[in-house]
Amino acid sequence: MNIPRREVDFGFEPGQVPLDWANNDAFETTFLNALSLLFPEGEKFFVESVKQHRQFVKDPQLAADVKGFMGQEAMHGREHRAFNELMLSHGYTIGPAVEANLRAFLKRVRRTLSPASQLAVTCALEHFTAMLAESLLKDERIRDELDPTVRGLWLWHALEESEHKAVAFDVYEAAGGTYERRVAIMLLTTIVFFAVTWFVQARLMATRGILWKPWTWLRGLARLYVYPGHLTRLIPAWLSYFRPHFHPDDRDTRELLARWEKTLFGARGELREQLKLSA
Ligand SMILES: [Fe+2]
Ligand SMILES: [Fe+2]
Repeated sequence: MNIPRREVDFGFEPGQVPLDWANNDAFETTFLNALSLLFPEGEKFFVESVKQHRQFVKDPQLAADVKGFMGQEAMHGREHRAFNELMLSHGYTIGPAVEANLRAFLKRVRRTLSPASQLAVTCALEHFTAMLAESLLKDERIRDELDPTVRGLWLWHALEESEHKAVAFDVYEAAGGTYERRVAIMLLTTIVFFAVTWFVQARLMATRGILWKPWTWLRGLARLYVYPGHLTRLIPAWLSYFRPHFHPDDRDTRELLARWEKTLFGARGELREQLKLSA
């Protein structure tokens, strides 16, 4: 799988994106807005944790993949930052404070965990992003819920997350990372990921004055966890990570990605004009 660094520019403008851009629903939108707020700092952490293990990357193909992975994550951070700035115009003025808190939290994580465990955190979260990406690319219902003004951002991100899903994992293996550490860190990361995401979402909901609306919560939680159960449907894929011989490529997404690559960036792809082709 070739991992290209695509120069894209969505050029988000204030006023262009509706307030509740996911399914016209405040709960689903604040959940995804929370993820978007976590991406730039989170992805910086992923890149650093891989960079710390560069000396173990002897295989030229893996070295090229690492380069592609870093380029893609840097670009995701940049475009999500632009999107997060747009959120300010939606009244989410706590966005910068959330990012600053996450930065401080990750600084503490870097000080507390060994480089091998930091890389295991990255592998765990890359598995999360790969699962979410695959369901977005496969499930038309989820895609249809996204407003066309932001759909491209999430589809492009999903495509590239799926393209580079094995890179951090392969570096972890090349560095001699153990199974025990990988699964222990997955359990810890899952708890922390949900706690942080929920906390950030609650803060976003509070700024809109919808934190104490029971129906908003019930409807939102039912959709994420019951029907269609966007998150609970990922449980089998999450569990597969605990197999001793798990590898991200066990789920063959090559055909799916080839199709989406063409749809988004092919000669007449819908995001073609967002590619900075001169770069
Ligand atoms: Fe990313
Ligand atoms: Fe990633």
